Amino acid sequence: MSEVLGFAGVNVVRGRKRLLKDIDWQVNDGERWVVLGPNGAGKTTLMQIAATRMHPTSGLAGVLGEVLGAIDVFELRPRIGLSSAALANHIPGHETVLNVVVTASYGTTGRWREEYEQLDERRAFALLHDWGMSTMMNRTFASLSEGERKRVQIARALMTDPELLLLDEPGAGLDLAGREDLVRRLTELAADEDAPAIVLVTHHLEEVPPGFTHALLLREGGVVAAGPIAETLTEENLSAAFDVPLKVSSDAGRYTAVARVGA
Ligand SMILES: Nc1ncnc2c1ncn2[C@@H]1O[C@H](COP(=O)(O)OP(=O)(O)OP(=O)(O)O)[C@@H](O)[C@H]1O
Ligand SMILES: [Mg+2]
Repeated sequence: MSEVLGFAGVNVVRGRKRLLKDIDWQVNDGERWVVLGPNGAGKTTLMQIAATRMHPTSGLAGVLGEVLGAIDVFELRPRIGLSSAALANHIPGHETVLNVVVTASYGTTGRWREEYEQLDERRAFALLHDWGMSTMMNRTFASLSEGERKRVQIARALMTDPELLLLDEPGAGLDLAGREDLVRRLTELAADEDAPAIVLVTHHLEEVPPGFTHALLLREGGVVAAGPIAETLTEENLSAAFDVPLKVSSDAGRYTAVARVGA
């Protein structure tokens, strides 16, 4: 099994604040990780490093067999699919849904663009179809609901056929039906042997798709627990990560957490 991410002693410091503290973390091909932790725990910062958008202040961050700082990140980026609120903010509202997805491949096709244009469009259409968005391919991104936007962003993240898929809070802003639809689609993706390694960031246990294999819990920039999902998403670990006594239950791979009454 090949290593997709290999972080050793990763620190990120901004001013006097340590956003990430001595992070050791390994993600292998075929694994599906969920990263959980409260607001400000460092989840997005961690994803920024995995996406090669940020370098550690100290420590080693290995991404797809390369070490950040020692390689040209522009060669690595097409091999990584990223969906995040920050990235979505950069999508022009007047862009059509099809273009939002197709343009993800611009960086990789370069001067061969014309030859690949039709192939790109076909792939974008197929991805939009997979994510239930092909009938809206000519709509503008601005006209979509939040749930529709999230699905377009995931299709876009998959456009370059990445080896690593990073989803930073894809469930944010979705209603219950939208969340359940997303969880179902991510469950299917997780079960697909051809799908890339996946890292899904959330603060809601209810958003963990069945079939995800590993979990990383963060608190104040540090790792509270990491490892196979069933061993990691325990009451003890989750209570420590969120700093509140929790009652955690799981049923058919779905998790829920509520505060312990009277604790
Ligand atoms: N440039 C910066 N300078 C100082 N502090 C920063 C900087 N960027 C981020 N932070 C802080 O680092 C901490 C971690 O931020 P990060 O966005 O990684 O958290 P998060 O776990 O993704 O939170 P959320 O769940 O709210 O998205 C936050 O307290 C944030 O305010
Ligand atoms: Mg975040």
